[in-house]
Amino acid sequence: MAFTIAIDGPAAAGKGTISRAVAAHFGFAHLDTGLLYRAVGVRMLEGTDPVEAAATLTPADLERGDLRGAAAAQAASRVATIPEVRSALLDFQRAFARRAGGAVLDGRDIGTVICPEAEAKLFVTASAEVRARRRHAELRAAGSDMTYDAVLADVLDRDARDRDRSTAPLIAADDAVLIDTSAMDIAAAIAAAITAIDARR
Ligand code: DC
Repeated sequence: MAFTIAIDGPAAAGKGTISRAVAAHFGFAHLDTGLLYRAVGVRMLEGTDPVEAAATLTPADLERGDLRGAAAAQAASRVATIPEVRSALLDFQRAFARRAGGAVLDGRDIGTVICPEAEAKLFVTASAEVRARRRHAELRAAGSDMTYDAVLADVLDRDARDRDRSTAPLIAADDAVLIDTSAMDIAAAIAAAITAIDARR
């Protein structure tokens, strides 16, 4: 049986960690939809037209090692403003969402545009400073020497672009459960997500 869990929110709010844990808890498949935009963004940086890249994305594009960095993130946020890029990625995401056995998708527009009919919707957020602090620690652990101020500027820049674009902007669905992780540790955030989803099952 299909059961879709839509998890949206701004950059570095904890969506990825929560989504992976929720998928493991319920035995559902997980799709990090940000990776699709990152893969298109990286191909744009290499000179491919982004609409063309979105229409011809392959599984290998999603396994590249350079998708997690700041350059890929910024490029992703730029290509994500192009309506034709978004529509080229729509069918794949919708098919994934309705697969038998259940699916968790995390992104910006899952509960509003990709799966407005999702059985459970969460909007995961945290203050920009908390998100920048977490992302900074992650980048440092991965060997990056980016400063906290540069990470905060990057987060604010992406927030503005993701929220202000005209197609599928970042916004909570009316029926999403809001989880603010600013003052929560990972375990508490995962527990809050599972409780909210259980209430819809
Ligand atoms: O979740 P992320 O940081 O990997 O996403 C990278 C960018 O991709 C983000 O700044 C906006 C875009 N994105 C989007 O527009 N819609 C989605 N469903 C997922 C990501």
